[in-house]
Amino acid sequence: MIPLRLSEIARITGGQVRDGVDAAGADPLVDGPVVTDSREAGDGSLYIARIGEELDGHQFVEAARSRGAVAALTSRPVAGLPAVVVPDVQAAFVSLARALVDRNPQAVVVGVTGSSGKTSTKDLLWSVLQQYGETVANVGSLNSEVGVPLTVCRITPSTAFLILEMGSRGIGNIDYLTRIAQPQIGVVLNVGTAHVGEFGSREAIGRAKAELVQALPATGIAVLNADDPIVWGMASQTRARVIGVGESDQAAVRALDITLDLQGHASFTLSTEQGTAPVVLGFHGAHHVGNALAVAAVALAVGMPLGEVATALGDARPMSRWRMEVHERADGVTIVNDAYNANPDSMRAALEALAAMGHGRRTWAVLGEMLELGPDSADEHEALGRLAARLGIARLVAVGRGTQPIERGARDEGSKGSGGSSIGESTWVEDTDVAFELLWQNLAPGDVVLVKSSRDAGLRWLGDRLLDDADSEVPS
Ligand SMILES: Nc1ncnc2c1ncn2[C@@H]1O[C@H](COP(=O)(O)OP(=O)(O)O)[C@@H](O)[C@H]1O
Ligand SMILES: [Mg+2]
Repeated sequence: MIPLRLSEIARITGGQVRDGVDAAGADPLVDGPVVTDSREAGDGSLYIARIGEELDGHQFVEAARSRGAVAALTSRPVAGLPAVVVPDVQAAFVSLARALVDRNPQAVVVGVTGSSGKTSTKDLLWSVLQQYGETVANVGSLNSEVGVPLTVCRITPSTAFLILEMGSRGIGNIDYLTRIAQPQIGVVLNVGTAHVGEFGSREAIGRAKAELVQALPATGIAVLNADDPIVWGMASQTRARVIGVGESDQAAVRALDITLDLQGHASFTLSTEQGTAPVVLGFHGAHHVGNALAVAAVALAVGMPLGEVATALGDARPMSRWRMEVHERADGVTIVNDAYNANPDSMRAALEALAAMGHGRRTWAVLGEMLELGPDSADEHEALGRLAARLGIARLVAVGRGTQPIERGARDEGSKGSGGSSIGESTWVEDTDVAFELLWQNLAPGDVVLVKSSRDAGLRWLGDRLLDDADSEVPS
């Protein structure tokens, strides 16, 4: 972070210093990480004591001190550590983040939102931009009212690019995040059905995501998916210059001739106003092409030359776990663990990648529930089963609550036997233990297994267990 004295933090947040400035005039210097989790504190840290739903962060002030924290931001006086006491810790945390980003006016702030692929795109954008200038991006999926200020506080005086994944669980969320650090560039990837249960409709999700482009200044840039009608419709809701990305003609940054190789890696020709360049991604699945186009548009907009952008896109590798994570077991079984999260769009993308990887091999789709789909949930699950059958997936295993319609859809579509619908066998099992036994008994060398579900359905651990004892390695 940008170093600050405790007294400056008090001034920025309007709080009062307790036990900080002693008679000798000591005023602790905060020059380590700003943390909300005491276990992540290090030398020079500022510990933010939040009161969560279950725990009161004030209990962990001592733990933070023992790991090197020099001060805390709290809503009541605490023993053992100098503190700035404020009435509202969250509001003070936001003020602090805003003050820090203001101290580095040359940093370009890039906001990334969408229903699927925010973290994947953020990671890819980090991989590319850090070749060009010092880049800070959120860790993992820290994309909320806590994750965004935590990330903003990591800015340094020499940061050139600050990448902020912005999540949204309701109207106003993204607007709030953009007030912590105003983006100059906003990327909207897609508007799907993720969290439709909470929002009510896709249009409502679109309104929530549009808050990002509405926050851009006239000198800013909105990178919009030109293939997604709701996202493309946001072009009229921003003062910023619009750059369309996608396969359609209206996109300025386009992917031509997309193909998936037998490992499921996507290749395409990147076509831009600066010329064209071939790209082979180190990621599995065609859905990463759209993410890569958004990254290319941002990188080109900040001045990175096309050739360097194409090379950096090709060199990038997955960074966050459980997103199309491909493992080759020593016995020749390939496990694709994409169980970080799931919604109908990402399920479709993953099944298509599985089908591409499965040429000449037996394919397994082990699918858990897609959560938060609202009233269409059963229909969406059934459609997924039908798609698996149409793609010719050999074995479908639907795991746990809410997934019976997947199995039903696969069976229905498979029994029609039309147009290559040839699902070999579909099974519903009650939980991941039964699924594990079934797979452990039946997997054979050469099989390709996709494991995918929403986070809370727990399939990521099933995918990890399938690697245990199997002497696996992570290939590039
Ligand atoms: N552009 C995309 N469209 C559809 N699915 C995607 C896209 N990009 C990534 N995914 C898939 O969506 C899931 C969640 O990806 P992630 O990058 O964590 O998204 P988010 O941060 O938006 O939740 C993963 O299974 C990933 O493979
Ligand atoms: Mg995420």
